[in-house]
Amino acid sequence: MLPMTSTDPILVIGGTGKTGRRVAARLAARGVPVRIGSRTGTPPFDWEDPTTWAPALRGTRAAYISFFPDLAVPGAPAAIAELASTALAAGTRRLVLLSGRGEEEAERAEQELIASGADWTIVRCSWFSQNFSEDHFHDHVMAGELALPVGDVREPFIDADDIADAAVAALLEHGHEGELYELTGPRLLTFADAVAAIGRASGRDLTFVSVSMDDYAASMVEQQVPDEYVQLLTYLFTEVLDGRNAHLADGVRRALGREPRDFTEFARDAAAAGAWASDDAEVVR
Ligand SMILES: NC(=O)c1ccc[n+]([C@@H]2O[C@H](COP(=O)([O-])OP(=O)(O)OC[C@H]3O[C@@H](n4cnc5c(N)ncnc54)[C@H](OP(=O)(O)O)[C@@H]3O)[C@@H](O)[C@H]2O)c1
Repeated sequence: MLPMTSTDPILVIGGTGKTGRRVAARLAARGVPVRIGSRTGTPPFDWEDPTTWAPALRGTRAAYISFFPDLAVPGAPAAIAELASTALAAGTRRLVLLSGRGEEEAERAEQELIASGADWTIVRCSWFSQNFSEDHFHDHVMAGELALPVGDVREPFIDADDIADAAVAALLEHGHEGELYELTGPRLLTFADAVAAIGRASGRDLTFVSVSMDDYAASMVEQQVPDEYVQLLTYLFTEVLDGRNAHLADGVRRALGREPRDFTEFARDAAAAGAWASDDAEVVR
């Protein structure tokens, strides 16, 4: 096996997603060669086809690992164990895993990585602020109403820019090996608070409605949301959002030596970039 050098690329698995594309952009801005690990990468990387993993890892010096669809699903720990073993066999020792707070399967996946013998770092995150601007909830914000099966549970939403900064520090700098950084925003907000902040930043008239889990699941089935996704959201809303994560953590400060970005800054910047602009306006999320 050739020793890895600083000209070897870093594999960014999920490099077209919310966190991965930010990690890839930061690495590229520093002149670090990047290989995108996704079904559209070259070579392609597919979580459902382990034969694609070694070719994607070959010749890389480190990897950022964002699992799809979610580290909370059954099978995620086994996939992370196999990926870590494939990475070590390819000579890629530095592995940075994106994880979720308060999720049993995610914690088992973390343990698999820790036991693998890799030089690991884990960024264990709260709910992403960008779920409202780039993912699940964006369409609902655009429709003016977000109806979710949550009440007044509070969540310290984390900005994906902070996650990417921490992941890049772990990929490029010494001193982050063997560290588990719990990344949260600086403030606990209810989902109603978050929607109100987006309403103020975007100038949109937005309503948050708390619905029952049964009604929410029924509406997802009606919208033909795939069954696995309905199950995942049901798990996240009924088990993970039960208050267990309603506390702040100091991971951003530990990893980066600064405070995390507040939700209002996220909402202001996303609005300014056109995340919630009307459909006929140019959108730069
Ligand atoms: N959202 C949250 O609030 C939250 C909180 C904590 C932790 N997390 C964790 O974040 C992770 C998701 O990260 P993210 O939000 O940055 O990503 P994302 O925005 O959900 O993007 C998904 C990425 O996965 C790729 N992908 C989809 N299917 C794939 C497949 N079969 N094989 C390989 N790649 C595939 C996509 O690229 P292509 O389509 O090009 O393949 C894309 O790059 C999950 O593991 C979740 O547990 C999320």
